[in-house]
Amino acid sequence: MSDEMSFADYESRLDRSIKVKAPDFSTGERLRHLIFSGQFTRPMLDKLCRLADKIRLLAKSNEGHRFLNTLLSHKRAMLYFTQPSTRTFMSFAAACQILGMTCNEVRDLSVSSEAKGESPFDSMRMFSSYFDLVIMRSHIPKFAECCGYMMNHLASTQQRSVPILNAGAGSDEHPTQALLDIYTIQRAFSFTDPKDSRQWTRYDELRESFPGLRKGIVGKTIGFCGDIRRGRTVRSLAQLLALHDQIRLVFVSPAHPTLALPRDLKDKLIDAKVDVRECHSLLDTFDGKPLIEQLDALYMTRIQREHNSAEEEAELKDLDYSQFKLTKSLVARMKPYAAILHPFPRDKEFGEIPPAIDEDPRAHYFRQARNGMWARAALVAHIFDVDGEINDYHEQYNSERQIAPQ
Ligand code: NCD
Repeated sequence: MSDEMSFADYESRLDRSIKVKAPDFSTGERLRHLIFSGQFTRPMLDKLCRLADKIRLLAKSNEGHRFLNTLLSHKRAMLYFTQPSTRTFMSFAAACQILGMTCNEVRDLSVSSEAKGESPFDSMRMFSSYFDLVIMRSHIPKFAECCGYMMNHLASTQQRSVPILNAGAGSDEHPTQALLDIYTIQRAFSFTDPKDSRQWTRYDELRESFPGLRKGIVGKTIGFCGDIRRGRTVRSLAQLLALHDQIRLVFVSPAHPTLALPRDLKDKLIDAKVDVRECHSLLDTFDGKPLIEQLDALYMTRIQREHNSAEEEAELKDLDYSQFKLTKSLVARMKPYAAILHPFPRDKEFGEIPPAIDEDPRAHYFRQARNGMWARAALVAHIFDVDGEINDYHEQYNSERQIAPQ
């Protein structure tokens, strides 16, 4: 079976809208595979974020950690990453381990039978023979989606089938990054957690200067800066933010079609009633006020130079990028509670976020990366239907601690 033949099998399904496809990847309210961020609903996101909080808390104690470790100790995960990855790979492996799963990996196709001509579909089917979950980042566009269809087909013919989690596919989607980004933004705007909100645990005090300030994501103005078009994290996160009311999204990129907000994403967001703005500098103004002073959160990204064609390389080389880099003086003008995010890796040569900003309490990006582990553990628990057990254990754990003598 050649790749083309297999893709042709699924081709007619690929072009459907996400709304039409989503039921193919769920069983009722439960995700079966995670391929697109459009599969998340607001209630599902909120549930996963609360579950991540509970896992985070339980994992701190020896007893809670041991409980989590028993939940999926009979399951094995395959991490099939044929594109570079540091955080997504490691946090998924750690998430599986928190729940007691054992993990194995394929990261280098030269040591896999694909080097002998095996089709990636056959590889995938083999993984489903030996493992109970496949987490994948592929260089082949739409491959994760096709694997979801293949697993559904296997299940429908009573053959072995396992869940597929998309850990970043082409320039289209990175749904688990969007999940951890939402989790990070929710925590930043809860204004209660001492680590995530630092000095802003006194929400009432903060409201004296910002009377309209509400907890949570609703009503926030969020900027995205850098490589907007090729950033799959931007695409996935923007769609999840759009599930919240009164959201304003400001996209800041050079005015070049390779980097600027693509029409299809813009239309999707406008359809979802997002107030979409486009700027071509972090120094721009809108509604008569400097952009940087209006942002509640700023999601920085690197310019993905590795995807440049020869023509793009020549055209993009001479652009002035200075206004797409954060500086200490720009950060000083941001709201005191604003959250600075970055999916990472940051580009040390380009310098979109210089390390000098890391110590600022508004820099959330290292915490964001760690949140990936809790959010992914919550997702894996949801996929295997052990979230109910975690909720019950957490409730009991809390009540025992409340009545326990000091
Ligand atoms: C990103 C990705 O791979 O899409 N990184 C990540 O998963 N955290 C962003 C990037 O490569 O710039």
